[in-house]
Amino acid sequence: MAIPAKLTRCSGMVMLCLFLELLLAASARNILYSVPEETDKGSFVGNIAKDLGLEPQELAERGVRIVSRGRTQLFSLNPRSGSLVTAGRIDREELCAQSARCLVSFNILVEDEMKLFPIEVEIIDINDNTPQFQFEELEFKMNEITTPGTRIPLPFGKDLDVGMNSLQSYQLSYNPHFSLDVQHGPDGPQHPEMVLQSPLDREEEAVHHLVLTASDGGSPVHSGTVRIRVQVVDVNDNPPAFTQAEYQTSVPENVPLGTQLLMVNATDPDEGANGEVTYSFHNIDHKVAQVFQLNSYTGEISNKEPLDFEEYKIYPMEIQAQDGAGLMARAKVLIKVLDVNDNAPEVSITSVTTAVPENFPPGTIIALINVHDQDSGENGHITCSIPENLPFKLEKLVDNYYRLVTERTLDRELTSEYNITVTATDQGNPTLSTQTHVLLLVTDINDNPPLFYQDFYSIYIPENNPRGASIFSVRAQDIDSNENAQITYSLVEDIIQGAPLSSYLSINSDTGVIYTLRSFDYEQFQNLQLRVTAQDSGNPPLSSNVSLSLFILDQNDNTPEILYPVLPTDGSTGVELAPRSAEPGYLVTKVVAVDRDSGQNAWLSYRLLKASEPGLFSVGLHTGEVRTARALLDRDALKQSLVVAVQDHGQPLLSATVTLTIAVADSIPDILADLSSISTIANPEDSDLTLYLVVAVATVSCVFLAFVTVLLALRLRRWHSTRLLQAAGSGLEGMPASHFVGIEGVRAFLQTYSHEVSLTTDSRKSHLIFPQPNYADTLISQESCEKKDFLSVPQSLLEDKKEIFSQVIL
Ligand SMILES: *[C@@H]1O[C@H](CO)[C@@H](O)[C@H](O)[C@H]1NC(C)=O
Ligand SMILES: *[C@@H]1O[C@H](CO)[C@@H](O)[C@H](O)[C@H]1NC(C)=O
Ligand SMILES: *[C@@H]1O[C@H](CO)[C@@H](O)[C@H](O)[C@H]1NC(C)=O
Repeated sequence: MAIPAKLTRCSGMVMLCLFLELLLAASARNILYSVPEETDKGSFVGNIAKDLGLEPQELAERGVRIVSRGRTQLFSLNPRSGSLVTAGRIDREELCAQSARCLVSFNILVEDEMKLFPIEVEIIDINDNTPQFQFEELEFKMNEITTPGTRIPLPFGKDLDVGMNSLQSYQLSYNPHFSLDVQHGPDGPQHPEMVLQSPLDREEEAVHHLVLTASDGGSPVHSGTVRIRVQVVDVNDNPPAFTQAEYQTSVPENVPLGTQLLMVNATDPDEGANGEVTYSFHNIDHKVAQVFQLNSYTGEISNKEPLDFEEYKIYPMEIQAQDGAGLMARAKVLIKVLDVNDNAPEVSITSVTTAVPENFPPGTIIALINVHDQDSGENGHITCSIPENLPFKLEKLVDNYYRLVTERTLDRELTSEYNITVTATDQGNPTLSTQTHVLLLVTDINDNPPLFYQDFYSIYIPENNPRGASIFSVRAQDIDSNENAQITYSLVEDIIQGAPLSSYLSINSDTGVIYTLRSFDYEQFQNLQLRVTAQDSGNPPLSSNVSLSLFILDQNDNTPEILYPVLPTDGSTGVELAPRSAEPGYLVTKVVAVDRDSGQNAWLSYRLLKASEPGLFSVGLHTGEVRTARALLDRDALKQSLVVAVQDHGQPLLSATVTLTIAVADSIPDILADLSSISTIANPEDSDLTLYLVVAVATVSCVFLAFVTVLLALRLRRWHSTRLLQAAGSGLEGMPASHFVGIEGVRAFLQTYSHEVSLTTDSRKSHLIFPQPNYADTLISQESCEKKDFLSVPQSLLEDKKEIFSQVIL
């Protein structure tokens, strides 16, 4: 208890005294213990009781305790065992950090003696810490051209332990390019460095992964690692390289535009722009460059123009690949074009005859044909043909030339024009062909005569036809063309009953219409044979004939003519006798009549028209026999008068009458007695009438003759002046227009009329023959020639006329 009082009194002095005492005690006796770190609480450190020379139980009695300078107690006393134990876990690294020895010093105070005993406890390091790096991973960039030997400092590892437990070594994972170099300092390994051993190649390996391991020397060994990533930075050390030295492809020439034909590929292992390859044409024909398109990024070659085998069979080109830094490579590209049958044959007609006369012999050359095909091989192999049914053939000449010739003689009348299709076909697949047409006209040759539609014509006309009437029309046809088919009709001259045929009929030379020039009388002749010629205008002309039979048909133009009994002209009585004793049916007489017509028109029937004693006589209907109808009586008059009518069966009916006087008497004297009382039935006026008629006809004839004479005289004068005018070259103005106009009928009548005149003159003067056919023809031809030739034809006409007129005047 004295010590606290002492301390209270002079605390400063006490503190100083204590310190000194402690120093003394320490120097006097130093107790040292050691304990490994990280032991459990209560672990034995040292037997303090024994070291102080005390019994363990004395520790408590003598107030032994630990004194330290305000520090947490690391140790405590175990009063039962009298030993020093740990008060908790002790971490050496916390206490002493990197110090090599870690000593914890404190004092043990023995209170009753007031003695201090300095105690030192060494904390022994255990390997409880692992070497560590600051980062888990580390990245470096190294240029691939970095020279070997270059050193790269690596991070240090750290181990909190000390001594052997601290970091003792570094290892670098294996890599052929890198090695580890570690300098050893006094405190162990220092400054680990990575040394580049061999050149890097980014293209080979762009990233290198390394592991740096730091190990301590403890047991067991602890180690820590850091991953090192070395990124190799590219340098443009590689030129682009084409995958092939030469690229080839074959494409058909008809590939559509824009087709990808080929792809070149150049690779550059460099990175970024250094490896970015662009393509371009190099050294290329200007024309080829127009056809193709090169994608400068993909190397794709496509066509922007149609390919043409006929122009280029192979398109050669060179392509250059260049990387971003300008390194380049080149490759050849060949694009072969395969021929496609894309060209149709071309046909050209080198020379043509457009028209060939139909009589040209076979083998006549029509055209020279040249064929050509731009394709090659089979695609350009051409055959040339024409339709088989034509009279032509193709002859092959050299060099794709053909000759088109006639194979047979042509006939314009069969085919007048040929449209010959020339087909040129190649052998490609599919085949292509071209057609050309050669047009050939076959010109006419007069090789066909005109032909009548019938071999023979029969014409029926009634008699008493009007003069100038058209009675028939013949037609012929000529299958030639133009003038070779232009037909002129004419009558073949003949003499009919002493008169030329042309005085009976005329024909229109253009139309073939036949006109009668006279009125025919059946009773004069019943038929007429004639021939008509049709002639074409070819050179030489061809003609053909046809026969016509003209049949005149009877008309009832003749009245029955009574031949018996005739009127008495010589003073005889003409009386028939009928004896009174005659039986009924006695043939008194017979009326005989004829009819110049024929057939029905001449079939006569007889009728009793009037009788002085009806019922006494009868007349046979067809026989004309006059017979008694009953027995004669005495009261019957001596003189009987009968009127008998004779009638034909024509249309209209024509009839004649005759008066019979029958004397009923047994002998002639009986009759004579009454003769004076019989008067003739004949009408005296008849002869008067006849006389008048004769006078009238004669007068008319005279007047007419005078008129004609005057007219012709006038004409002659006019014609004379016309001739003078003509001599002066003034043409035909003098011709009377009336002769050239009018319908054909009128023309025909004029002919007839002239003919009549000639007949009239003929009756007076001998051998005056009217130039009939010439006149008719001239009239017609003059009409057609009127406008073109004034001099030649009309001249002849005028000659004729002159002849006529002179004849008339004679
Ligand atoms: C180019 O060639 C390389 C190597 O053969 C290949 O890997 C790449 O795909 C090709 N490029 C094209 C675009 O075909
Ligand atoms: C020939 O015939 C062809 C077809 O058949 C036709 O197209 C062409 O016009 C004809 N030529 C002539 C000139 O008629
Ligand atoms: C036509 O008949 C005439 C006269 O009889 C004769 O000269 C001519 O040769 C005949 N023509 C033909 C083609 O029979």
